[in-house]
Amino acid sequence: MKTIWKTFAAAASLMMLAAPSGAQTFPERSITIIVPFAAGGPTDTVTRLVAEAMSKDLGQQVLVENVGGAGGTLGAGRVASADPDGYTLLLHHIGMATSATLYRKLAYDTLGAFDYVGLVTEVPMTIVGRKDLEPNDLAALVEYAKANQDSVTVANAGIGAASHLCGMLFMSAIETPLVTVPYKGTGPAMTDLLGGQVDIMCDQTTNTTKQIQGGTIKAYAVTTPERLEVLPDVPTTAEGGLPGMEVSIWHGLYAPKGTPPEVVDRLSKSLQVALTDENVGARLAELGTAPSPQEDGTPDALKAKLEGEITRWKPIIEAAGQYAD
Ligand code: MLT
Repeated sequence: MKTIWKTFAAAASLMMLAAPSGAQTFPERSITIIVPFAAGGPTDTVTRLVAEAMSKDLGQQVLVENVGGAGGTLGAGRVASADPDGYTLLLHHIGMATSATLYRKLAYDTLGAFDYVGLVTEVPMTIVGRKDLEPNDLAALVEYAKANQDSVTVANAGIGAASHLCGMLFMSAIETPLVTVPYKGTGPAMTDLLGGQVDIMCDQTTNTTKQIQGGTIKAYAVTTPERLEVLPDVPTTAEGGLPGMEVSIWHGLYAPKGTPPEVVDRLSKSLQVALTDENVGARLAELGTAPSPQEDGTPDALKAKLEGEITRWKPIIEAAGQYAD
């Protein structure tokens, strides 16, 4: 009798050895990428493009779920506490780095709660205004804002968002605090800008280019050293009289900490395929940006970027002394 059990146990362990683990057959079902901002905004736009290309490569649906709020930290927290099996991912931007200092009571450890998949893109910002706002160029906007600082409203996607960071840089560049109006993303903020409910916003070209080209909003400047091909008539902040007010929004793909290395590797390879996908390249070019180079679609590249950016923004934020909590 004993020998039968021994044989059975031996057979079972052999089967275990033979049977491929979940990590080796990943993915076996659909994957969800959490976007920590509302649908229809710039991060949503980038994520849906990448998700579509990764879905083709992985042979499984890559879905997008929007979890907006608290400048992107709610969505990030959702992924930090998700099962580390590769089926729940996070696509977030520079806000991942600034929130690490802006929020003193974050629900997760920014450098400890995630595994890195890779960099995705880096998007320029634009300073835009509602169509019927009086000023017609950046210098006039600065004068107007200074003269009406108690009434000029600046939309953003919450403390820690790219639009918040850029708005902060604009206000410190003109040394004038303005009234900020927070949203769950710049998608809904754009709706109010188009409707004239808010005056100005600093937002990514992935959300503003089409509106600027369509003349439905005013464009005052791009936050890059050079003008953008898709917006040739929009001056740089330096040309407009605010030299040094330059910022662009890098984006990365993350998994929960403890995700099997083979799974992270499979996701990173798939991200690299997406970064060279023709449709992704063409769409991002139309929106004033480009995919990150394929070699940056790696865990090491994202880890280095995040660590470097936390170090870069920490003293700036501490000097401003503006915390979210
Ligand atoms: C969004 O997708 O809504 C933006 O990335 C928000 C922001 O960070 O400004």
